[in-house]
Amino acid sequence: VEEGYRKTYEKLDEMLPTLAQGENWLADGVQVVQYQGFWLPKFIVQGIMLIHDHFNPRPTDIILSTFPKCGTTWLRALIFAIINRKNYYDFQNHPLLSSNPQDLVPFFEMLIHEGGSTSSIESLPSPRFLATHIPFPLIPKSMTSSSSGRFVYICREPKDVFVSMWHFMNKLRAKELAPLSLEEAFDFFCRGVTFAGSYWDHVLGFWEASLESPNKVLFLKYEDMKRDPSVYVRKLAEFLDLPFSAEEEDEGMVEKIVKLCSFESLSNLDVNKNGNNTPGKGKHPGTNSDFFRKGQIGDWRNHLTPQMVEVLDKITKEKFQGTELSF
Ligand code: A3P
Repeated sequence: VEEGYRKTYEKLDEMLPTLAQGENWLADGVQVVQYQGFWLPKFIVQGIMLIHDHFNPRPTDIILSTFPKCGTTWLRALIFAIINRKNYYDFQNHPLLSSNPQDLVPFFEMLIHEGGSTSSIESLPSPRFLATHIPFPLIPKSMTSSSSGRFVYICREPKDVFVSMWHFMNKLRAKELAPLSLEEAFDFFCRGVTFAGSYWDHVLGFWEASLESPNKVLFLKYEDMKRDPSVYVRKLAEFLDLPFSAEEEDEGMVEKIVKLCSFESLSNLDVNKNGNNTPGKGKHPGTNSDFFRKGQIGDWRNHLTPQMVEVLDKITKEKFQGTELSF
């Protein structure tokens, strides 16, 4: 570990034990602590601090920001396909056909740990494209100030986020433990005890940032994108200063990208059905197939009790009151 990193880790060793501890969905030793108003795993707090102390932003950086289960995998694939479309012209040998999107687009707060220095991140060619679950208020000002980089944010109907998270966490949960009940998970989710803090606060941070700096933060909704993906693929390309040319439009490039990245295509690829996600290099634990479940709008109807629906809708209404946000 590099000297600078060592200092940051030392600072963290002093600070982390002083933070409040929360319940953990996985119970495998991953500790969740409350840091600047958000419940986060210790490892992520460490990542955030390393980013604050050591990361050098570039004006070309593209950061995909999400709360877990809102469409990270899908947007990783779409943005990767958009920014690299000149390199894989016929799509026959496209990297997304043989690699999980996570293998192509690392997690910022995990990659920053790699190798005990910033070398893994510094060695990425521009434009760097990284994914993160870090809440907006915890991202350093050097990155959110106007001159450096862009953020794409995607959010989703809160009830679907919760249902997706409950299924996902049970897949990751240590096998020797009983599954986490829906009721227990619901209580954690409503109190914001997740791996990225309160869902509603997470959304609000990026929503406000997108209003303040629309050229810097693109705010998207999973449901809108599901209904009309090609509209949003064009929006994404324009936002990233890579609009589709008339020739590309004529040859159906937008539709090709939509199809390549659709739930149906990606989830049926061998790499995503049977591939093992080896941890490290900015990757999340779990197998590739864990990131593909149903990919639908409204699955909450099949899982939540009327009381749960009422509670979640009430929180959503209260939290988003006075904003134009609704689901
Ligand atoms: P469900 O559990 O509701 O099916 P994330 O990628 O942020 O972890 O989110 C995972 C959710 O997105 C899961 O939702 C997953 O099925 C869905 N998903 C994965 N790939 C997708 C795609 N290409 N298109 C639409 N949804 C996708």
